[in-house]
Amino acid sequence: MSISTSRNRRLLVFAGLALFALLLSGCAADAPQDTLQPAGPNAREARDLWNLVFPIAVVIFVIVEFLLVFAVIRFRAKPGREASQFHGNTKVEVILTVIPALILAGISVPTIKSIFELAEEPTGNVLNVTVVAHQFWWEYQYPDLGIVTANELHIPVDVPVRIRLEGQPTDLVDGTSEVIHSFWVPRLGGKQDIVPGRLNLITLAADEPGTYMGQCTEYCGLGHAEMRLLVEAHEQADFDDWVTDLKDTPESTDDLVAQGEDLFIQGQFAGGPACSSCHTADATADAPNAGPNLAGFATRMTFAGAIFENNEANLISWLRDPPGMKEGAKMPNLQLTEEQLTALVAYLQSLE
Ligand code: CUA
Repeated sequence: MSISTSRNRRLLVFAGLALFALLLSGCAADAPQDTLQPAGPNAREARDLWNLVFPIAVVIFVIVEFLLVFAVIRFRAKPGREASQFHGNTKVEVILTVIPALILAGISVPTIKSIFELAEEPTGNVLNVTVVAHQFWWEYQYPDLGIVTANELHIPVDVPVRIRLEGQPTDLVDGTSEVIHSFWVPRLGGKQDIVPGRLNLITLAADEPGTYMGQCTEYCGLGHAEMRLLVEAHEQADFDDWVTDLKDTPESTDDLVAQGEDLFIQGQFAGGPACSSCHTADATADAPNAGPNLAGFATRMTFAGAIFENNEANLISWLRDPPGMKEGAKMPNLQLTEEQLTALVAYLQSLE
């Protein structure tokens, strides 16, 4: 066997194994972003359409690939024989045009029906949320409730959530043009782009209380892979409590917390200005912010684009060096002293 043949064979085995591993990755039973396990009516509609179209596509794929491989082997060149030569066959070409056209026409009926159903404006009891995408985190405004939060979207169950996806014309941090992001919570609804200067609408809903993972699905810069989100669905009464709690600014008598709050509002650090130049901890503040609104921060499970678990160790690492923790993060390293760090962490953990 020559060296090049054995190398080719090894490459083939490697490619085969890689393909097999890729296939196996589809077998995860508890994948948190599984479109095939819808948890609400909108996601179910998309899954049902997929259930209809996918088997048809599989059958066509198998037939076409079988014929292709058969033709390649049967008519190939052999020692002493040239590969078979064909030039057009009107009958076959007409058949191969008509059959796909009929299949596509058939599939288009349920597809168009689903597209229109999913685009329908929900009526009755609807929760309106405006989603603003930033590099690299999510802002959620609840215009009817007068609150703003970030990264973790809270919704009541069984209520259609009408989401306005607003593209920002300019980035608030450095004045450069904003980029396209895409909002996707696979188990609750479809995927929709957020395009600068445009308004897109999407509806999602959850049947049961729970946590549903999502993420940005349009490459938007260095931190794209770390621009995740989660949706917390509550029973209506629990959701109402969440809103009430968020509007309440907690009062603390703790000295360290007071010191942290002072730093948050008017601290001047070696690496940058006070936290309040980009953040607020008031959920009802309507002024736009360059950084996430931090009201109720201590009750959040995650932070920084739903990337890190919200615990003291992660918070300390984050405040020490945000861009070191998350690629592309716009929050600078403020070069906090240990005392400043301790006070700020205490303040953030008091925001319930
Ligand atoms: Cu935002 Cu990708």
